[in-house]
Parts: sequence; C-alpha cells; structure tokens
Amino acid sequence: MKRVEFTNTVLRDGHQSLAATRMRTEQMLPALADLDALGFYQLETWGGATIDSCLRYLGENPFERISALKKGAPKTPHGMLLRGQNIVQYTSFPDDVVEAFIRCTANRGMDVLRIFDALNDPRNLETSIRATLAAGKQARGEICYTISPVHTVEAFVQFGEDLVDLGSQSVSIKDMAGLITPKVAYDLVSALKKRVSVPIILHSHDTAGLAASSYLAAIEAGVDVVETSIVPFANGTSQPDTLRMMALLEGHPRCPDYNRERLARLRAHFETVYAELKAFTSPANERVDVDILTYQVPGGMLSNFRNQLKEQGMAERYDEVLKEMPVVRAALGYIPLVTPTSQIVGTQAMLNVKFGRWKMFSQPAQDVVLGKYGKTPGPVDKELLVLVEKQSGKKAVTIRPADLLEPGMPALRDKLKEKGLPEDDETAVLFAMFPVETEKLLRGEKPVEPKSGLQDHGTAGRQDKAVSMRTTSIHARAKKYVMHIEGQKHNVEVEEVA
Ligand code: CO
Repeated sequence: MKRVEFTNTVLRDGHQSLAATRMRTEQMLPALADLDALGFYQLETWGGATIDSCLRYLGENPFERISALKKGAPKTPHGMLLRGQNIVQYTSFPDDVVEAFIRCTANRGMDVLRIFDALNDPRNLETSIRATLAAGKQARGEICYTISPVHTVEAFVQFGEDLVDLGSQSVSIKDMAGLITPKVAYDLVSALKKRVSVPIILHSHDTAGLAASSYLAAIEAGVDVVETSIVPFANGTSQPDTLRMMALLEGHPRCPDYNRERLARLRAHFETVYAELKAFTSPANERVDVDILTYQVPGGMLSNFRNQLKEQGMAERYDEVLKEMPVVRAALGYIPLVTPTSQIVGTQAMLNVKFGRWKMFSQPAQDVVLGKYGKTPGPVDKELLVLVEKQSGKKAVTIRPADLLEPGMPALRDKLKEKGLPEDDETAVLFAMFPVETEKLLRGEKPVEPKSGLQDHGTAGRQDKAVSMRTTSIHARAKKYVMHIEGQKHNVEVEEVA
C-alpha cells in the first residue's frame, strides 16, 4: 500500500494560525535545508495572510520572499493559498489583475496554487485555475468544508468533480475551522477516490482536537496527502505536528518515514522562533476547544465576539447573538463560516439582535443576498431577498461576479505612474490589494506595529447610507471594524481563519 505523504505548513499556515503570520523570512531561512531534505509532498510557504503581513507589519517585499525560500529549498514543490477571484484580499478583482498576480508568482518560482472560494462557487475559481495552468504551474482545487443541511458528502464530491473539470490537478478538502470528524473524513475521501482520479489531500486544523484522528480515518480511506506542521507551530488552531502524526501511524502500512533527527532539529529551531514571536502567540490558540463544534464558529472569533459585544454594552446579549448566527447563516444560503463570510454572518446577527431581525443590514450581508459574492450553497431566503431588493433598489445578479468588473491593470499602472512609483506587474498587483502598505514599502517607510485598541488604517472601505464599515487590522488574523450606525460608533472585531 502506498505510503501517505505529508505537506509541511510551518512556513505559512503554522505561523498564520498560531503567531499572527509574523514569521519573518530571516527566521525561515535556517530551516530550509532540513525542510527540503525531508522530502515532503509540498512545502506551503506563501499566500493566505503572509502577503498582507509582509507589507503591513514586516516591511518585506512578499515576492522577494518566494525567491529567497525557493533558493533555500529548491527540490520540494512550494505551495501557496489563493482566495480565487479575491486573490488574498476580501473583495473580487478583475480577471486581468488575478491573471497578472498569478503570472508574477509563477515567475518567482511558486509551484502549486491552492485555490479556493468561500462559497465553493466554481465560477469564482475559473480564472485562477486557467491562469495557473497557462503559467505552467500546478492548480490544486480546494473544497471548503463546512457543516449545513446543503453541504452533503454528495455535494462536496460533485464540487470536487467540478474542480477537476476546471483543470485542477489535485483536489483538497480544506477544513479551515477543524470541523471534519473521522467518520465524515472517511466517507468523503472514499467517495472522492471513487469519482476523481487526481490526488486527494486533506487539510484540517486541530482546533477541536479532531484533525489527527480525521487524518488517520482519511488515510484508511486512501487519501494521498495530509498536511502537518512542526511544534510549536503545530496543534491547537494549526495543523497536527508531523512527529505526532507519525506516532499515530506507527506500525500502519501507510506510515511515512520522514527523518526524525531532522524533524527534531527543525523543532529546536522553531522553538526559538516561537519564543521570538511571543507577542503574537496566545494560549487560547494552543488549546483544544470543542466549543467550535457547538457553534461552528472559529474559536478565535468567539472570544473576540464576546469582547466586542462587551464594548458595546451588549455583553448580556452574547447568547442571543450566538443563537441568531445560525438563523442568519441559513437565510444567507448556508454560507460557510470562513473569511470573509464569517464576519458577515457575525455582524448581521449582532444587528438583528440589536435592532430587530432584518431591520438593519450591513452592506456585505446585502451583497451576499444580491449574489455579489457568487452563488450561495443553498438558496437565499425568499422573503429576505424581496426585502433586500426593495431596500437597496437593486436586483440580485446571477452572472459570475467578476463579469461585473472592468479590467483593472491599465488604471493601476496609471495610478502608479502618477505617484512616481514603478509600474511593473508585481507592484501593480500588490498595489491593487494593499495600496497604502505597498506605497510605504516602495518609499522605504518602516511599518509600525499597531498597539492594542482601535486604530484606523482605513483600507477596503465599504460605504452605505445607514451603515459604513471601515476595516483596520490589529494583526493579520484579526480585523477590527468600526461600524457607524445612525451616528453611533460600534466596534466589531473578526478573525481570519487559515
Ligand atoms: Co488552513
């Protein structure tokens, strides 16, 4: 029986999940020789929140990180996480910007693109997959796993088939909140193995303590690859540790044989790095907590949510808001609770409790209802749709959301030229997503680590007459919003899950 292979996530998801994505390139370099020599299936090294973090906090050019990491670990394929048409941001970008971004990453040597869409809408993945293949790189399609009446094994498998039809050369189950149980992992992998012929990968998080057991079940069902990290950037809200997973597989015919000495040496290195990043780590992320299974809300989001309700004098309504979340999620077509949809559901639940159900809408919740994020997994509640169409004066759209966007690259180049900044594609795509931070980097301004509390860096503004939201980041995993409702300021905090 073929041994199972591991992807190592320590250089991306590991520190994104446990240390606010703050690992610097220089802290990665000493680990590269050992990581490369271990012979992992892939090394996940880029994408997700790392680009934001490089620009906003670390003062690093994210594209140069790819070159440095590829140079230090040239043998193992490097992977990155891409949010489909959103690239690594929260709004949709025009096709030409997505294509340019993918060309740039390919030119720097990125090998595998993990491509996902929060709604599992294939139309939001088309362009990214096509551009990845055109660049001669590997497209890995991701199935976002969540639990709802419409998210059945059969629906996931059909989406897996869609991903292969679009050109994905491997299919991955992306369980960002760590919800998948061993039973479901077994059933889903077994069904996928019957229906698609490309390699199947399981990516989970140990938030609720299920990931290692679910990996074992998936391995029994024939999964090709599971994803692990290295302690202390492992377990808790991150992936299970590599040696822990090998211990669990001891004596199993599919147990891989990664060099334990090298793994021990890597652990020693990362212990030092973890200590250096102490300001960004938290015991709450290291601990296993089954609360997430009750609420299906990412663990970090729950604690933040409690704080934010307290700030607004709504502390005693916490349970009410939590109970409202499934109602909102069902009405919005059972969207998975992953960035950015988790914050949309949380904020709308809060508005429903505060002002009465559907009396006040956040702009993003309206956009979900109007189809601007894509097709929701289940239908949007009919009465809600009528209400939102009436209030907004807009009709719901059914076309691919990116078809509503004009090409973006010419305007980006014009803007860079106006500012006297370089007009190359790398600069343009970074500027498209992070204009303020990219300009600062290019002008050699050092980023400042924000202190705690609300600080408005005001990017990605969304405006609405009744509700305006401006995002501001405390760190790459948490976003704070200030909502202005009827002249009153409300602080909202949400957290990104990898
Ligand atoms: Co992840």
